[in-house]
Amino acid sequence: MIASHIAGAIHADAAGPHPRWLDVPEDVNALLPGLWSRRVAKDDQGVLTVAGRTVTEIAEEMGTPAYLLDEDDLRSRARAFRTAFDGWDVYYAGKSFLCTAVARWVAEEGLGVDVCSGGELAVALRAGVDPGRIGLHGNNKSIAELRTAIEAGVGRIIVDSFDEIGRLASLAEQLDRTPRVMVRVTTGVEAHTHEYIATAHEDQKFGFSIAGGAALRALRECHDQPRLELIGIHSHIGSQIFEPDGFEVAARRTLRLRAEAAKIIGVELPELDLGGGFGIAYTSEDAPATPDQLAGALTKIIESECEALGATVPHLSIEPGRAISGPSTLALYRVGTVKPVELDGGHTRLYVSVDGGMSDNIRTALYGADYSATLASRRSGADPVLARVVGVHCEGGDILVRDEFLPADIAPGDLLAVPAVGAYCRSMASNYNHVPRPPVIGVRDGRLTTLVRRETIEDLLRLDVG
Ligand SMILES: Cc1ncc(COP(=O)(O)O)c(C=O)c1O
Repeated sequence: MIASHIAGAIHADAAGPHPRWLDVPEDVNALLPGLWSRRVAKDDQGVLTVAGRTVTEIAEEMGTPAYLLDEDDLRSRARAFRTAFDGWDVYYAGKSFLCTAVARWVAEEGLGVDVCSGGELAVALRAGVDPGRIGLHGNNKSIAELRTAIEAGVGRIIVDSFDEIGRLASLAEQLDRTPRVMVRVTTGVEAHTHEYIATAHEDQKFGFSIAGGAALRALRECHDQPRLELIGIHSHIGSQIFEPDGFEVAARRTLRLRAEAAKIIGVELPELDLGGGFGIAYTSEDAPATPDQLAGALTKIIESECEALGATVPHLSIEPGRAISGPSTLALYRVGTVKPVELDGGHTRLYVSVDGGMSDNIRTALYGADYSATLASRRSGADPVLARVVGVHCEGGDILVRDEFLPADIAPGDLLAVPAVGAYCRSMASNYNHVPRPPVIGVRDGRLTTLVRRETIEDLLRLDVG
């Protein structure tokens, strides 16, 4: 697909087959606004800087590949949700990225932490997060995970199956505790990027179906368990959502369920969680809403639905992950090989291989996600050419950035940066091909702090006990 281009047909043709949303840049060195963390800029030499440090210095000191996390940026996004959603509880979704420092920072900014495994729970507890401000998710939590959560006193366990309700009730009995629970429901809404579908999508592993009646039965069952304190309903409808329509349908359905449950159990459940999924910008195509806009839209939806139902407004919460951690972090890579590949129609695509790959960012291969990139170690005077950034793995699908314009003179030894990799990249990283996982380096006021150290071949060999 050839996009029409502001610089005219000849320029557009030379640019090769790029997607419609990708414009040929006027200046291939310029940073696209909105994609980078707040403390990222380029200096006079065209070198990328993060919170006052050049990436050339950082690469020298810390090596590549590396995730560079702008602490001020992550904190300010957490704070923006906290402030915009005044009166709500905001839980940071740790699955997007969790380490003890990040858990501590979001707690310091007034957020709770949402975890979905014993491992994530251990990190949040080790960080000193108040257990009462931790929520535990999961469709198949083990007895050990449930036990740890109850013993630690986590503030809410989001139950996901009838099996789990039984397990949790008997554990609570054994431990002589009364955990607070929410029931995760399937609203029939599934939202991704600019679309949502509000009729199907019951066919998945999470939650109790509202339409099928399981949600109401689960609420009654939790209510009837003397060892469980049922506090509310939980709904999460998807990821990378830009429009409020999906939330509107989900809120309407969950509030109707709450009203129906009130008739049966005799009380209006005090809490409602609308989950996460707020979109961020990965490319020039994405235009995310601000936390203020989201808070305004969601509050309006809830208030008007409650008014229509004659119900009280519940205590509300959300669980943003990507919108807090995603934009805070860039991936810094060293270019290794550069290979022009001839395409049909006389076009060329420049394959730029870097020293990371699908093991540090699986999202492109897994979800067909789009990313952007910039030459980070110098200014180039060369023309932009259509490029694809690929990794080191033995896999044709080992693509990091499918389509980007990079300077034609990009060469081995250059540094390349990919923005918005703070969510679902390190947290989904693997050791495919026995490649050690990169470190997460915090950058603040010119100071570098290793938050998660680089894995080594020795770490990997130690696991292999023969
Ligand atoms: C239950 C729940 N809450 C919150 C989130 C966070 O979503 P996001 O990072 O897109 O905000 C997820 C992500 O899958 C989720 O499953």
